[in-house]
Amino acid sequence: NTIKIFCPATIANLSCGFDVLGLCLETAGDEMIIRKSSEKGIRITKIIGADLPMETEKNVAGVAALAMLEKVETDFGFEIEIYKNIKAGSGIGSSAASSAGAVFGINELLGRPFTRKELVLFAMQGEKLASGNAHADNVAPALLGGFTLVRSTNPLDIIKIKSPSELYATVVHPQIELRTSDARSVLKQTVSLTSAITQWGNVGGLIAGLYTEDYELIGRSLHDEIIEPLRSVLIPGFDLIKQTALDNGALGSGISGSGPSIFALSKGKKAAEKIAKAMSQIYKNMDLPYEIHVSKIN
Ligand code: HSE
Repeated sequence: NTIKIFCPATIANLSCGFDVLGLCLETAGDEMIIRKSSEKGIRITKIIGADLPMETEKNVAGVAALAMLEKVETDFGFEIEIYKNIKAGSGIGSSAASSAGAVFGINELLGRPFTRKELVLFAMQGEKLASGNAHADNVAPALLGGFTLVRSTNPLDIIKIKSPSELYATVVHPQIELRTSDARSVLKQTVSLTSAITQWGNVGGLIAGLYTEDYELIGRSLHDEIIEPLRSVLIPGFDLIKQTALDNGALGSGISGSGPSIFALSKGKKAAEKIAKAMSQIYKNMDLPYEIHVSKIN
C-alpha cells in the first residue's frame, strides 16, 4: 500500500526539437513516497528540499494525480511525500519529475490500469500548472525512459526512440532560477521558412543518427537557430560553456529545456566526465555556484 519511487530529471528540446524531443537522466532526480489512505482524494503530506505549495490544486504532483483520479473509480485516496533534489527553474524538468512521479506511483498502487503513455496525458496537467503550457517533452522521457519524441499532443502520440549504447549526457546547472514561463515569453510566435527547413532537417538527422548509432550525425544535428539565440542571453556564460564542451569532445551542446542548465552529449563515459570537468572549471572561474550531472541514456 506504499511505494517509494525515483523521479528522474530530464533534458527537453535537445537543441533542434523544441517541445518535441527529450531524454531521461538516470543519475539525477527526486524521490517520492506515495501511500493509499482511507480518505478519498489526494493530499500532499510532506515536501522536503523545496518551498512548494502543499495545497493539492496548487501543486503539480497534486494536479497530475487529480487528473488521473478523474478517470478511475476508487473508494480510497492517496498521500504523497515529495523529496526534491531538482531545483525549480533549473531546466532539467523539476515540475515534470513531480508530475510524472505522482501518476506513475499511483498507477502502480492501483495495479496499473493505465499504460505509461496514457500517464503522460495526466502528467501534462502538472506541466500546465507549472508553466501555463501542457508540453510533454519532459514528462514523456520521465515516464518512458531514454529518448522520446512527442509527435503530437492532440491527439497524444509519443514515440520512444532508440538510444545508442555509448551515448552519455553531461548537464550543468548554474545556480540561478529561470522560470519556464519567462523563458517562453522571450520566444517569437512565428519562424521563417528558411529556419524551419534547417530545424526539421536537423530533427530528422538527429533521429536517424540515434537509430543508426551515427555519433557524427547526432553531433551535426544538435543545432538550434530558432530558440537558442533568444534564450541563451538569459544564461550566464552560455557561449563559453558550449564552446568548452565542443572543444572537449562533445558531439553537441545546447540549452537544457528552458534553461539555465546547459547540456552536452558525448560518446562514452570518459568523454562525458572530461566535459563535466571542463564545464565546472568555467563556472568556478566565474565564481558561480553550479551542479553537474553525468548520465548514460537508456
Ligand atoms: N519545451 C519546454 C520549453 C521545456 O523549452 O519551454 C521546458 O522544460
